[in-house]
Amino acid sequence: MIVAANLKTNLTRAQSDSYIKELGKFLDQKSITQDVFVFPATSSLNSHATKINVGAQNAYPAECGAFTGEIGLVHLSEFGIKTILIGHSERRHILGETQDEIAKKYEFYKSHGFQIIYCIGEPLEVRQAGNAALMEYLSAQYDGIDTSYEKLIIAYEPVWAIGTGLTPTLEDIESLHAALKEKSTAPLLYGGSVKVSNAKEVMALRSVDGVLVGSAALYREHFETMISYAQELEQEKQ
Ligand code: PGA
Repeated sequence: MIVAANLKTNLTRAQSDSYIKELGKFLDQKSITQDVFVFPATSSLNSHATKINVGAQNAYPAECGAFTGEIGLVHLSEFGIKTILIGHSERRHILGETQDEIAKKYEFYKSHGFQIIYCIGEPLEVRQAGNAALMEYLSAQYDGIDTSYEKLIIAYEPVWAIGTGLTPTLEDIESLHAALKEKSTAPLLYGGSVKVSNAKEVMALRSVDGVLVGSAALYREHFETMISYAQELEQEKQ
């Protein structure tokens, strides 16, 4: 199971370092065998001797150059970072990244062998427009994306569920994930208001391979509880 924390524009470098260090201790103490990812803010990136997969929330598709305000491959390589989040809804909808820009970023980091967590998800009006509109919208988010890339993980995160406390029903998550699994065999995470109280039932769904957690992961103990649930679920399956 994959359990990922998107720390967004929170936690300074010192706070992120301590978060990762303490989380690493927890994973060792509990002999956790799940794949755990943490995405700190850009200026909080650092080198870590840890089995946690620390990734970047964003970077420009270039090694370096004249891209004011952006960071490139060299800035990730400095810290040994080989994982990146691409297509997050906040980058699509708040920062205005287009599918074309996202696809370029995807190709660039794929060509450098990065593990990519690629996010897709629809706004509320699309969800309300019915299943055909929903699938059409989500399909367009696969444009220019090599869905057979072996280091791809997809995260389905409905925009209206992110940071709102709202989530689709378990039945809706399962049926949508099952439909998305037909588009790509990459592991498929659910994200959007995942918290301690719903993480286990979401991760227990057949077509869910893990979760991408924002707000609730800012409480390290909550994130650890969700990791423990993932571990329990895997053990129950065996
Ligand atoms: P949330 O965010 O858990 O706060 O809804 C999830 C995400 O944006 O990845």
